[in-house]
Amino acid sequence: MKFFIDTAEIAEIREASAQGLVDGVTTNPTLIATSKRKFKDVLLEICEIVKGPVSAEVVSTDCEGILREARDLAKLRDNIVVKVPLIAEGLKAVKTCAEEGIKTNVTLCFSPTQALLAAKAGATYVSPFVGRLDDVSENGMALIQQILTIYRNYELKTQVLVASVRHPGHVVEAAMMGAHVATVPFKVLQQLAKHPLTDLGLARFLEDWKKVPQ
Ligand code: E4P
Repeated sequence: MKFFIDTAEIAEIREASAQGLVDGVTTNPTLIATSKRKFKDVLLEICEIVKGPVSAEVVSTDCEGILREARDLAKLRDNIVVKVPLIAEGLKAVKTCAEEGIKTNVTLCFSPTQALLAAKAGATYVSPFVGRLDDVSENGMALIQQILTIYRNYELKTQVLVASVRHPGHVVEAAMMGAHVATVPFKVLQQLAKHPLTDLGLARFLEDWKKVPQ
């Protein structure tokens, strides 16, 4: 299972990369705004650090505008994946991107039918937002299972990128279901390594070590 980091913060990307946890990066307009930097500056700096897929989102909502932004972003670096919203105009743009060899990450997916359409349009990745579904009392991980089943039934090539991950439980379930990728915020990536018994055990070992004649 691949881990992408869901952030535009360079320090977080560097730290998680040093831990071997970054197969790729996802950004969105909110994360770029949080960085308080210019979009392309951040994007290019991320691409200096990470050679795997780096998702950069378009803000146009019509096919022509999406395609203009997609071609512009794809030209910047080979590893840039263009993030396109799951709307009818977005699907048209994704189909053309696929024909032109531009990789896409179809975002804001909240239903299995949306995911099926993204795959039929030729998306490289589809991003179902599990946390946001949980937030409205739906079951985000049940959606992941539905999409994986549908894609496996028809051997669709689009990779399921579990997004809007809120806690380690989402990552465990995604891995057990065989999702291709999870994009995980830095805080949750750090939580994945933690266990209170590890901390207790280490403290005990270090304390006992003091009793060993040096
Ligand atoms: C990633 O591609 C998504 O934009 C992101 O995971 C959304 O997460 P959020 O629901 O925590 O904003």
